[in-house]
Amino acid sequence: MGDVSQCRLVRLPRLSDGRGSLSFVQPGTMLPFEIRRVYYLYDVPPGQVRGAHGHRKLEQLMVAVAGALEVECDDGHKTRTFRLDAPNVGLYVSPMIWRNLIGFQPGTVCVVLASAPYDEGDYFRNYNDFLAATAQR
Ligand code: TYD
Repeated sequence: MGDVSQCRLVRLPRLSDGRGSLSFVQPGTMLPFEIRRVYYLYDVPPGQVRGAHGHRKLEQLMVAVAGALEVECDDGHKTRTFRLDAPNVGLYVSPMIWRNLIGFQPGTVCVVLASAPYDEGDYFRNYNDFLAATAQR
């Protein structure tokens, strides 16, 4: 069963000087999994919802490298909402969490680091199926 209390904001290094800023992510304390895939969401029209699914095993770190959005994380019992609005802050999303990505501001780019290659079999696409799975364990 998932536990939304495992979802957390992770502060990433930010190196700033007169030339601008640089942030990075590497496995270790800031990322508790090896990166097996990177994807990104962009050109999201106002009001659109992304995500709206759960993952059985996948772990992710989401970073709004530009713009801002909110991520609702739901373990079937409790929900927490996180705001992502800085390139040096990531959201770690643990397994068995239903997530809705909402409130995309224009120009937002959300980079997602994932623990496994794309696998449709890892998804819960139906919320009731997700709830049933969280109740079983
Ligand atoms: P989906 O995970 O539903 O997107 P979101 O959670 O942002 O709303 O994926 C949308 C489509 O993209 C779906 O057809 C699967 C495909 N896809 C890949 O082929 N590879 C990937 O790594 C991801 C994340 C999605």
